[in-house]
Amino acid sequence: MLLIKSLLALAATALAADFPTVEVVGNKFFYTNNGSQFYMRGIAYQQDTSSLETTSDSTVHFVDPLADAESCKRDIPYFQEVNTNVLRVYALDADANHDECMQALQDAGIYVIADLSAPNISIITDSPSWTIDLYNRYTQVIDVMAQYDNTLGFFAGNEVITNSSNTDCAPFVKAAVRDMKKYISDSGYRNIPVGYSANDDGKTRVASADYFCCGDLDERADFYGINMYEWCGKSSFSTSGYKDRTEEFSNLTIPAFFSEYGCNVVQPREFGDIEALYSDDMTDVWSGDLGRFRKLEDSNCLSFSKDR
Ligand SMILES: *[C@@H]1O[C@H](CO)[C@@H](O)[C@H](O)[C@H]1NC(C)=O
Ligand SMILES: *[C@@H]1O[C@H](CO)[C@@H](O)[C@H](O)[C@H]1NC(C)=O
Ligand SMILES: *[C@@H]1O[C@H](CO)[C@@H](O)[C@H](O)[C@H]1NC(C)=O
Ligand SMILES: *[C@@H]1O[C@H](CO)[C@@H](O)[C@H](O)[C@H]1NC(C)=O
Repeated sequence: MLLIKSLLALAATALAADFPTVEVVGNKFFYTNNGSQFYMRGIAYQQDTSSLETTSDSTVHFVDPLADAESCKRDIPYFQEVNTNVLRVYALDADANHDECMQALQDAGIYVIADLSAPNISIITDSPSWTIDLYNRYTQVIDVMAQYDNTLGFFAGNEVITNSSNTDCAPFVKAAVRDMKKYISDSGYRNIPVGYSANDDGKTRVASADYFCCGDLDERADFYGINMYEWCGKSSFSTSGYKDRTEEFSNLTIPAFFSEYGCNVVQPREFGDIEALYSDDMTDVWSGDLGRFRKLEDSNCLSFSKDR
């Protein structure tokens, strides 16, 4: 009996020493060490890549926010100050070294969810394809990130479907999800979830969520993010649109969360949206957010809500 107890104690110590990974079960994220739910309190952490120009040789010079250990470490105290537990990064340089930044984030209890595409290599809305080049790009990022216990997941696409005129690109993204899940499993990596980040189009958001979450486990998305810009200025759960969205997504069988959010038109942001997202009205349906702030030109532009 004593022996069993000591063995259990040893096992518990060994587990405690490991950084707890996070996995998807049903429509929620959970810590694998103790089964507690993991609720995202995230920041989108990258200089905006959408306006970057592709040069004639199709290279794009974006800044990989996890490759520069110095700026990464500079920003971590700010992340901690607002109780952040996950960062979203939009484009990584698969050839760069990320060890130092990822370790520093892990030491701060911060996870990372990474887009697999880059500004010059992604599934294109009006001319979709799923090619060997894309496959190679996506798997390179997975090879880089799968080694870290604090990698939370991957996006196989961001706002690829934008409205009902281009839903024909959805199967290409879903093929990417399927192939990346297989790649992760064939490579013997931990079961890191792969999902999609959608825009908030009224005609496609629910159908698209249903499309990504249907099918067998090996082909469906593991989670669905929605980039949400409905709450502007002073608003409320019911008037903002959050109530309707929460009802629409209430039966989704995979985790749903705000993969970006805020408001594009009204400044300054008052952050009432955060209070709503973390209230009982929403926590049953959503798994949190990744977009409380956006890193703009440099981290001096981070603005904070100190309420959380
Ligand atoms: C489960 O583990 C996580 C990560 O270490 C921790 O934040 C959380 O508080 C734990 N939950 C319980 C109920 O101990
Ligand atoms: C995209 O740009 C990167 C530089 O940022 C370059 O290394 C890569 O070859 C480019 N990829 C394609 C498909 O052009
Ligand atoms: C649909 O999306 C495409 C690409 O984002 C855009 O060019 C087009 O104007 C949109 N159509 C409608 C009806 O909004
Ligand atoms: C969710 O499921 C319940 C029970 O099956 C059903 O009554 C409800 O209409 C569904 N809601 C949506 C938005 O599909």
